[in-house]
Amino acid sequence: MKKDRILVTGGTGYIGSHTVVELQQAGYSVVIIDNLSNSNRDVLDGIERITGIRPDFVEADCTDMDALKRLFADYPGIKGIINFAASKAVGESVQKPILYYRNNLNTLMNLLELMPDNGVKGIVFSSSCTVYGEPDVNPVTEQSPIKNATSPYGNTKQISEEIITDVIASGAPIKSVILRYFNPVGAHPTAEIGELPNGVPQNLIPYLTQTAMGIRKELSVFGNDYNTPDGSCIRDYINVVDLAKAHVLAVERMLEDKSDDKIEIFNLGTGRGTSVLELINAFETATGVKVPHKIVGRREGDIEKVWANPDKANNVLGWVADSTLEDTMRSAWAWQCRLRERGIM
Ligand code: UFG
Repeated sequence: MKKDRILVTGGTGYIGSHTVVELQQAGYSVVIIDNLSNSNRDVLDGIERITGIRPDFVEADCTDMDALKRLFADYPGIKGIINFAASKAVGESVQKPILYYRNNLNTLMNLLELMPDNGVKGIVFSSSCTVYGEPDVNPVTEQSPIKNATSPYGNTKQISEEIITDVIASGAPIKSVILRYFNPVGAHPTAEIGELPNGVPQNLIPYLTQTAMGIRKELSVFGNDYNTPDGSCIRDYINVVDLAKAHVLAVERMLEDKSDDKIEIFNLGTGRGTSVLELINAFETATGVKVPHKIVGRREGDIEKVWANPDKANNVLGWVADSTLEDTMRSAWAWQCRLRERGIM
């Protein structure tokens, strides 16, 4: 049975593309809007190879209100939106705050403004565990305090959550599910899609897999003097396909009115904290490939430790992140190998 039409902004990006696959496999029809600022058109081929369906694609910027209006006219009947379109590099946001506020906030406000007139019932918003800052207590629940943002990027996530809350409180006839992601990693098990950062990766896993491939000489471990068992920072690394599946459940929940609440917030993590050194070890064990690495000084602004209490998503959304870390590491490596086969990396 053909289900509703869903607009996925940023749908050729890392998490977006994995979510498009899951949506299509669940029977939804998908329209992607993406400006290709941090992705490329070939991702559509990967999605089609996995699902047998090529999603509709509009190359445009969500800050462009006219382009969005045209999209809603050209693709009638969109019932839900998943908003991934955003700039996401923490360091860059400190250098270019206006770019971050403009991209991330204007995109969201444009979508919220157009939803009622176009009959769109709900929006799923990509938020981040960055809203919890350095938590006083781990694991964090959705009730854990929101801390002052430490970067413009983090601030856009906090402000976005407030914008959605205020718009719904004003009586707008829409619903929202806000998803606070922990650290998404890995790739689709087919190795047809995955993470493809521009330039030198800032995040741990792409840097690690590029080092394992010999593209980078050595992985720098940022600090081993933290107050953690092995001294390196702890995160909750969540498999990107598990994460993508939560979006399908969130869309269903909104569109099928499974909750009376107009706005709901869920942590999406595994509930398991893993240190940088443990992650390197898990990668080496899972793949048999060594990762040359050295300990260097701390990275400014890093959180010491944060991991999720995912009980609410488990119980209310009926979702569990059940991939093992080893399988996830193998998927990240298979994707890196695929990029090499294709001469991309
Ligand atoms: N790390 C290294 N070496 C590297 C890169 C990272 O040791 O070359 C360490 C970091 O110090 C950190 C861990 O690996 O301890 C994870 O770092 P990432 O950069 O991969 O991820 P972050 O947790 O810093 O940031 C991520 C997302 C942000 C999001 C944030 C929420 O990139 O978008 O999680 O906490 F806001």
